[in-house]
Amino acid sequence: MLVQIHGQRGDPSLPSGPPPLAQDDSNCDLSIVLDRIHVQVQLTRSERARDEVLVKVQFRDLCVSFGAMPVLQHISLDVAEGEFVCILGPSGCGKSTLLNVVGGFLAPTSGGVAIDGERVTKPDRRRIFVFQERGVFPWLTVEGNIAFGLFDLTEEERRRRIAHYVQMVGLRGFERSYPRELSGGMKQRLEVARGLAVNPDVLFLDEPFGALDSITRLQMRGELLRIWQAEKKTILFVTHDIEESVQLADRVVVMSARPAQIRRIVEIDMPHPRDISSPRYLALRDSIFAEIGLAHQV
Ligand SMILES: Nc1ncnc2c1ncn2[C@@H]1O[C@H](COP(=O)(O)OP(=O)(O)OP(=O)(O)O)[C@@H](O)[C@H]1O
Ligand SMILES: [Mg+2]
Repeated sequence: MLVQIHGQRGDPSLPSGPPPLAQDDSNCDLSIVLDRIHVQVQLTRSERARDEVLVKVQFRDLCVSFGAMPVLQHISLDVAEGEFVCILGPSGCGKSTLLNVVGGFLAPTSGGVAIDGERVTKPDRRRIFVFQERGVFPWLTVEGNIAFGLFDLTEEERRRRIAHYVQMVGLRGFERSYPRELSGGMKQRLEVARGLAVNPDVLFLDEPFGALDSITRLQMRGELLRIWQAEKKTILFVTHDIEESVQLADRVVVMSARPAQIRRIVEIDMPHPRDISSPRYLALRDSIFAEIGLAHQV
């Protein structure tokens, strides 16, 4: 099933919306008039949807090239407030590039991205990114890393927040350790904790659980879902793991290989917690495998 969400707080400077209907219907036969009435009804519905759903992140005809190499082509997507969207695509297709543009770390070649209706032109400390390789600060302890960004809290609230997230990502006993004393998976959990501790309203995550063992990865997915449901955050989550995307997202945006375009948007119409052996889950997962031309067999 294909879905497109429209919202009312888009950046008016970005091109959007269906073309207007012709005004003069005087020479139309009945079927054309009925067709037009049908289109008008659809427009009215989408206008109503526009009043009800707020767009948090809006991509409009985004294109990025590195020199002569096109990486992202004509990406248009609205992410609604409170929505969990997974961007799924093969390695090297441009997923991290997409997040770099959302973060204001990279200027698009054409088109653009708006957050809360404001065009992104530079990094903004209100936006939290958990990047694939950027890593934690090596000169700070576990506590220091989580505390980074909590500067506007009282000492008591900061202590409480640090303890909560240390516990959540399973780093109790390592509060005073430096990243060099942690395993790869522990460092990745620390980075997720640092992002969540700031309590942002929108989270951008680039394969945050990629280096974790399969059990910890499942636990972290569950924890992220719990936080998302409890705190109504908007989440844009990049992954190349099909199972992960179907377990987590409201919608999975399936990208093509580079130069990446949106191939399909799949709505995961299953409530949480999701039964990963249910026929619906398996059908959705297999439809994505088929979409990217993979047989789900080894
Ligand atoms: N700063 C850059 N300069 C030149 N080329 C770049 C730059 N950043 C990325 N690329 C190229 O753009 C393409 C997309 O890279 P990107 O890191 O966005 O892929 P990805 O989908 O995140 O891959 P993965 O799943 O392996 O992380 C690659 O071919 C990469 O070599
Ligand atoms: Mg990447």
